[in-house]
Formats: sequence, structure tokens, C-alpha cells
Amino acid sequence: MRQQIGILGATGMVGQRFIQLLENHPWFEVAWLAASDRSSGRTYGEAVRWKLDTPLSARVAAMPVSPATPEGAPKIIFAALDADIARDLEPKFAAAGCAVISNSSAFRMQPDVPLVIPEVNAEHLPLVENQSWRKQSGGYIVTNPNCSAIGLVLALKPIVERFGIEAIFVSTMQAISGAGYPGVPSMDILGNVVPFIKNEEEKMQEETLKLLGRLNGRLIEPLPARMSAHCNRVAVEDGHTESVSIQLTRKATREDLLAAWAEFTPLAGRDLPTAPAQPVEFAPEQDRPQPRLDRMRGAGMAATVGRLRPCGLLDWKFTVLSHNTIRGAAGAALLNAELLVSLGKLDPVAVPA
Ligand SMILES: NC(=O)c1ccc[n+]([C@@H]2O[C@H](COP(=O)([O-])OP(=O)(O)OC[C@H]3O[C@@H](n4cnc5c(N)ncnc54)[C@H](OP(=O)(O)O)[C@@H]3O)[C@@H](O)[C@H]2O)c1
Repeated sequence: MRQQIGILGATGMVGQRFIQLLENHPWFEVAWLAASDRSSGRTYGEAVRWKLDTPLSARVAAMPVSPATPEGAPKIIFAALDADIARDLEPKFAAAGCAVISNSSAFRMQPDVPLVIPEVNAEHLPLVENQSWRKQSGGYIVTNPNCSAIGLVLALKPIVERFGIEAIFVSTMQAISGAGYPGVPSMDILGNVVPFIKNEEEKMQEETLKLLGRLNGRLIEPLPARMSAHCNRVAVEDGHTESVSIQLTRKATREDLLAAWAEFTPLAGRDLPTAPAQPVEFAPEQDRPQPRLDRMRGAGMAATVGRLRPCGLLDWKFTVLSHNTIRGAAGAALLNAELLVSLGKLDPVAVPA
């Protein structure tokens, strides 16, 4: 039997992706939807401005949008709220015994909250046992990273493991869907590049180093690397592209790096429905990856790397691309939930002895 789940922020860009990805999901069934007062009391079909290129199912369109309170909500909640709202609402759900699988930045850097990409740092998940909600009600919060950190970290993880990384320089070209709906005004972005996304560079830097860090007792020791991120908004609908330079601890050839990416299949054998077979795909063409052509690799869950070449300042440079609302948001949370199921932490959500 499929487990019932709820979506907080169900009408937004990420909420819509959740609904799309959960259609016919073998383990989870959408049973409860919530959004702001603007939407609650209406049917989902009336409240949402559906922006995806697959049709909204009649079943979900007819579902009511509930108020965003834990009463009557299922015990598994996918949360897609703005950080300010998440900071207030997510703890209420965790305190009520819900497993909150969150997309927002509100708790990502809190020391007892795991920030997880299943292929990268599943071993950080035991941090949930330190959360006061977990001890009192069984509920907890698990987060996935910022949509631009996730592609970068997928590409870096196999390299860190084999060669170590001392320094990371990244410059992003981020899609407009990353700003939610309606997002950046068309007059600001059409034919333009905006070299500022509030708090994004800070998030990329601290989240990348936490994700690549080591669990030591009750704390994550961040990767001790120097890092600098530049974040730009560009007139692309979906898919964040990033130019990356890295300095390694131990020397590596081009073949070494290609092998590290090709052999990176850490979830092989776990049979998680949303996991891509190859989390990091290499595109050998000289002008790839490109958002329009490569963002749907691995059903939107793979990061595509390309343009690997020596760097004049650090050791190597390359381009990485990932789908920001699938791999960078709803798909990331869904994969976290699938990992939690496979580890026995979602079924049932129980107060530990
Ligand atoms: N878009 C991306 O690529 C991406 C990637 C990674 C992470 N994220 C993060 O995911 C979160 C959601 O992003 P988004 O792009 O989906 O934003 P969005 O399109 O603006 O959607 C926001 C959602 O929150 C709901 N909401 C607003 N105020 C609320 C309230 N007071 N109580 C309950 N619900 C409320 C909205 O409902 P109404 O429709 O009723 O207003 C809507 O469902 C953000 O934290 C964002 O940073 C986004």
C-alpha cells in the first residue's frame, strides 16, 4: 500500500513539481494539500496557476486546499514554502509528529538538521535523532540544498572522494523558475542578465561545504576548502548552468576525473524509484551541457558535466548543469524521502524508545 503524504506550499513552482513527480509514484500518494489563505478553502484546480507541461490530474484538481496547520495532515510532509514562512510553519509540523522533508533554506544550516543529497551524504541523516521534535513526538526536519548547490555538489563529490579539493570557484547562470512564480518581472530579465540573487552566494558556499563535510559525533565538520561563488539570473526557463574551477589536493588527469564521474553510482542496488542510474553524466560535445538540451537527463535528476579542461588559475575547470525544480527541489526532496523509507525512518514515523 502507498503511504499518504501532504504538500505544504502545493500551489507554488516547487509544489507543482511535487504533484507532477508524485503522479503514479509507487510508494507515495498525494492525500493532502496546503498553501496560503489565498488558496485554502478552494479546490487545488481553482487555486493553482498550473505551469507545467503535463496535465494536472482530475483527482488532484478536485482536492481541497487545506489551511497550513498540522491538524488532519498526513505524517509525511513535503514542504515547499518560502524560508520566512517555513521558519514558522515547519517546526509546528515536526512538533506534531510529522517527518518534514523541506526545500526551504530556513533550517538547512541548523546543526541538528541534516542537509542531504542521497548520493552524497546519506550518512548525515542520523542528525535527526538529536532534534527535540524527534525526541518528543517522533517528528523531524530533513532538508535538501539550494537548487544551485545541488548540481555543483553532485559533480564535486566523486572528485573530493578520490583526490581531495582545496579550492572551488563557481559562477552560476540560474533559470528564472528558481525565483518561484511569478518570480523575476519579465521587464527585468528579458534580454538581460541580473548579477545578483539575494543570499544565494552565501547559501551556495556554506551549503556546499556542509554537504561535503564529515559527521563527527553530533556535528558536521564542513569540508575545509576555500570557496567563492558568483550567482547570476539569466533568461532561461528551467536549468541552472555553472562554470566551475577547482584546485585538487592530489594531482588527477582528465581520464582520472572522467572515471570518477562515470563510476559514481553510490545508490546502486537501493532501488529508489526517483534515483537516476547515473547521477553525473558527462557530455563530450564541445558546446554542452546546455539547459534546453540536457536538463531532462535522468528524468531531470542527473547533473550533466562537460567542457572539462585545465584551468589557468586552479587545476581543472568544467561546466555543470542541473534541473533546478526537479533535481534542485522537488525531486531532491522526493529522493530524500525514498532514502528515509529505505532506511526505515519513514515507515512508520515512530517516537524512538
Ligand atoms: N524554484 C526553485 O527552483 C527552488 C529550488 C530549490 C528550493 N526552492 C525553495 O522552495 C521553496 C518554495 O519555492 P517556490 O519556487 O515553489 O515558491 P513559490 O512559487 O513562490 O510558492 C510558494 C508557495 O508557498 C505558499 N505560501 C505562501 N505563503 C504562505 C503561508 N503564509 N502559509 C502557507 N503557504 C504559503 C504559496 O501558496 P499560495 O499560492 O496560496 O500563495 C505557494 O504554494 C522556497 O523556499 C524556495 O527557496 C525553490
